[in-house]
Amino acid sequence: MSLHRLTDITMGVPNIAETVEFYTQFGLLPQPSNDPNEHWFGTVDGGPRQLKIVHAPVRRLLSLGIGAEDPDDLGRIGASLQRLGVESRIDGEQLTTNEPITGVKVTVSVAPQVPAKPVAERHLPNFRAPALLRTDPARPRKLGHIMIASVESATTQKFFTEGLGFKLSDEIKDAATFMRCSTDHHNIVVGHGPVNYMHHTSWELSDVDEIGRGVKAALEGHPERHTWGMGRFWVGANYFYYLRDPAGNMTEYYSDMDEITDDQVWKPGVFEPGSLWSPAMPPSLIRPDDLAELMADSH
Ligand SMILES: [Fe+2]
Repeated sequence: MSLHRLTDITMGVPNIAETVEFYTQFGLLPQPSNDPNEHWFGTVDGGPRQLKIVHAPVRRLLSLGIGAEDPDDLGRIGASLQRLGVESRIDGEQLTTNEPITGVKVTVSVAPQVPAKPVAERHLPNFRAPALLRTDPARPRKLGHIMIASVESATTQKFFTEGLGFKLSDEIKDAATFMRCSTDHHNIVVGHGPVNYMHHTSWELSDVDEIGRGVKAALEGHPERHTWGMGRFWVGANYFYYLRDPAGNMTEYYSDMDEITDDQVWKPGVFEPGSLWSPAMPPSLIRPDDLAELMADSH
């Protein structure tokens, strides 16, 4: 596959200081920045530039970066976008375009691969579980996926599949499309919304214990951050826990997602909403609490 991962996202938020504090406690790695208006966060395996937070009057996803293997991929993507009537520009080892419905800036650049996932620790007989011995804070390995809502979700989906070359993994009937640009089950989820907005970002942890440890640290003194979890999805099979940042964006810890290494073997399906197991899904998962504000901003 010529694309291989999400490299970075830029989020605009009205309340930078609180949001920066949230993602620091969430376990992302704050990075030095020369510009006081830009706050960068890295992850253990995804590198130092995975999340950029800047100011915006209302929360929004401003840009999305995707990693490609080879400069030749950029020309192919540019031609595919052109067939969809979407303009793009290639500058050296980077292609820049805009998703036509949400306006999100998308860059595809030649980028290093994320290192292979470490082999899971085994719980051996006669020894205590390795998870009991962990003392470091839980740290996300990488930015795994984002979900965006689009007022014309079919067009947005086509931009990712026919334009950029993402592959369809699964669908939730009449609600969302799960697509991949790597061996992860999904890197982009496009849902249908009454307004364009970012639904959630999602960060991979090495296992379910790390999710529990991350959640415990993030909720300490901030029970209002809890949104939905613990659970396991049917689509993608990942364990999940959703928190909400102070700007209103949901963010997910996940682990143990389905991997697709052979496109010929995987058969995409259409499923009903919901999870394999979890507490009941809160209404804000479908209709964010700040929807009225997001809609007012879009006019
Ligand atoms: Fe997710």
